Amino acid sequence: MRALLKPVQRWVWGDAARRGLRLLRFSEVEADGGRDLVRAAELTSDPRLRKLYLRHAGDERRHADIFRTRALELLRAHPPAAGEAPQRDWLAPGERGLDDVEIGPGGDAPLLAFLHLSEANAARDFAVYRDAVGADDATRAVFERILRDEVFHMNYTKRELERVSPARAKGLIWRARLKRVWKAYLRFAVGLAGIIGGVILTLQYFILLPPFAWISKRAARREAQGWVELPADAGQDLRGQY
Ligand SMILES: [Fe+2]
Ligand SMILES: [Fe+2]
Repeated sequence: MRALLKPVQRWVWGDAARRGLRLLRFSEVEADGGRDLVRAAELTSDPRLRKLYLRHAGDERRHADIFRTRALELLRAHPPAAGEAPQRDWLAPGERGLDDVEIGPGGDAPLLAFLHLSEANAARDFAVYRDAVGADDATRAVFERILRDEVFHMNYTKRELERVSPARAKGLIWRARLKRVWKAYLRFAVGLAGIIGGVILTLQYFILLPPFAWISKRAARREAQGWVELPADAGQDLRGQY
């Protein structure tokens, strides 16, 4: 799938202004991921994990700064056209893909499984983006540098998952994978429902509305214009209330 999307990625990353906007978006995703990990460090009761989460949070914070610095360099050199926005996230997702980290009562093991999957995806995606940026060596170096950290994140989360929950590690990774697929399906279904809803409303507008408009126009033509005097035998005396 990633190989098939390579031409799309070359298009996404081909334009310098678009590249800048996308990196700015990545910077937000990384900073958000860093905050989630600080929260995970607060909640865990495992001192080793707390240390690792805090280091991980520091890495994500640094990634946010690196992406932002490069984004601003690109945007200063190639200002985007007025109103230009980055493409939709699903075309080139950042580190967490399109999913948010769920930090809750489930404990460290499900979180580690989720983190392992999203870090593995990030490592694969960033390798594709690195190859798609064309002659932009500075942006390629940014991806190269961040990619090394993502590989470390991918490996430590798996190792720690196998330490804290050796019997359930594989099952939890599968569960996290299925959850990602389910969420992707829900996003697709919501998007499709939006398109179908738009088409049906447009058809209704052009097919159902014209007959009603025609009927009401015809009825309006039959109505007398302005104030009309009632005939004397109408049974109502309009000179007074009684
Ligand atoms: Fe990162
Ligand atoms: Fe990461």
